[in-house]
Amino acid sequence: MKEQSRGVLVALEGIDGSGKSTLAATLHRRFTANGIPALATREPGGSLLGKALRELLQHRQCTINPQAEFLLFAADRSQHMQEVVFPALNQGILVISDRLADSSLVYQGYGKGVDQKMIQSINSWVMSNREPDLICYLAIDQQTAHERITARGKKLTTFEKESAVFIQRLIDGFENLYANKKNVIRLDGTQSADRVANEAYEKITAWLKQNQ
Ligand code: ADP
Ligand code: TYD
Repeated sequence: MKEQSRGVLVALEGIDGSGKSTLAATLHRRFTANGIPALATREPGGSLLGKALRELLQHRQCTINPQAEFLLFAADRSQHMQEVVFPALNQGILVISDRLADSSLVYQGYGKGVDQKMIQSINSWVMSNREPDLICYLAIDQQTAHERITARGKKLTTFEKESAVFIQRLIDGFENLYANKKNVIRLDGTQSADRVANEAYEKITAWLKQNQ
């Protein structure tokens, strides 16, 4: 059954270092300032359980096979949808999620060979068949994203230590997934943060005007 909700769900997708967190914060600030109630959240880690799972996944002390890894992200997603996303959507709030279901399809599916049909079906299950209304895809090359992550100077997570070959597979995965998908706003993530945010804000606002 499709969960009924009044709010609009926007997912930000792209590889690590593409600028999703920066964009989520700016969009949240702008929409709120312009009188549109908005919530910025993220996967993994948007719920309390998610924070624990995020820590476990990012700084892992033991081997986690790709299937188990997906199931942990799916557990996070289930909790995140029930605890954070649906309650906000039901209040008519614009929800901006830094990553959502497609990250699993790309990282665990394209990237690590977990069965994509299984991922899609578990994603639909944990999201009560609710899909994002809009996806902002931050397209960026591996090199630029890597330079940004290392320039940040923080300790690298398990995911940020992945090889260039793996990251390229993720980029190909996103490009393939979004080649013919509706409601995807493709943004050039190599532009300045201001330009990316302006374009995203304008396009989301135009969509809201047309669809509400
Ligand atoms: P993500 O959430 O996709 O991993 P972040 O938003 O954390 O990416 O950005 C990674 C780093 O790059 C941060 O240090 C951030 O300040 C910087 N950054 C984000 N967007 C841009 C941009 N458009 N141009 C240059 N640097 C950026
Ligand atoms: P995070 O710090 O949120 O990513 P970013 O650096 O892009 O802000 O770390 C989350 C990591 O988890 C990121 O490398 C992508 C990965 N991930 C998956 O592999 N599958 C998923 O389903 C999700 C939501 C994230």
